Amino acid sequence: MPIIEVKNVDYVYCPGTPYEKKAVDNVTLSVSQGEFLGIVGANGSGKSTLVQHFNGLLAATSGQVSICGQDTAHKQSRNELWRKVGLVFQYPEQQLFEDTVFADVAYGPRNLGLDAGEVAHRTSRALAKVGLDSAVAGLPSVCLSGGLRRRVAIASVLAMQPEILVLDEPTAGLDPGGREVVLQLIKKLQQEDHTTVVMISHSLQDVITLADNIAVLEQGKLILYGHPREVLAQSGLRKVAGIILPDFLQVIFALAARGKSVNTGITTLEEAEAEIVKVLGG
Ligand SMILES: Nc1ncnc2c1ncn2[C@@H]1O[C@H](COP(=O)(O)OP(=O)(O)OP(=O)(O)O)[C@@H](O)[C@H]1O
Ligand SMILES: [Mg+2]
Repeated sequence: MPIIEVKNVDYVYCPGTPYEKKAVDNVTLSVSQGEFLGIVGANGSGKSTLVQHFNGLLAATSGQVSICGQDTAHKQSRNELWRKVGLVFQYPEQQLFEDTVFADVAYGPRNLGLDAGEVAHRTSRALAKVGLDSAVAGLPSVCLSGGLRRRVAIASVLAMQPEILVLDEPTAGLDPGGREVVLQLIKKLQQEDHTTVVMISHSLQDVITLADNIAVLEQGKLILYGHPREVLAQSGLRKVAGIILPDFLQVIFALAARGKSVNTGITTLEEAEAEIVKVLGG
């Protein structure tokens, strides 16, 4: 049984007003337990709107979203949803406001009404998962670098011990080193803890090597879906504006656009090199 099941979901902002906007348009997809789904698409393609259905923050205008087999439209399942699905918003460090890193991460478990020992245990564990030690725990989050604050914000969601981790552009605004650290820690959570991960990104590079499946959104519609290699191999992807392609794919796609018989379903620089050598004859 899929852990996330989205069936024919529409979401309309401000219905019946001049600002009416269908942000999600008839999307159907499912995510299995332990899977890593990457969601890509241009600005305004509906990525954030879609994932906010997963923890009940938004309720579908029509269609159905089920998490662990439970329809999220049922009010009684809302509280459970908050525990099951951890949502890391875009620029989540803007929501850190306590005096210390430890208190920021402990905020969620404390609100669950857990005893102090369990709160401390979860907090230390979550900080360790993002690679932060006790020396950092006593500092105010505002004193940390952008990359470290991002990791504190991710830890604050991990401390809730969610079964499903949803991250909205978790690498936005980070330098290459910071991006790599965050991507690797997310991959580790999926591989070692078997957490189901849904990650939004503008950058195909971020998702092609990590994700089991990729969903490509355009104007609220799911236009491509599948294993990264399958999605890259489809010519439709080359026409999607607003997705940042890795350099090697730009070369491969340019060769395909010139009519060269090139396999675009590749995910690494090494594969691109081999493909270019093959097509251009050494
Ligand atoms: N609160 C809102 N009220 C009205 N319209 C909204 C609201 N939030 C988003 N929209 C509109 O819905 C559409 C989808 O927005 P959404 O934020 O889901 O896209 P996105 O793919 O996450 O974009 P980005 O890459 O910029 O984060 C856009 O046209 C946006 O302007
Ligand atoms: Mg967004």
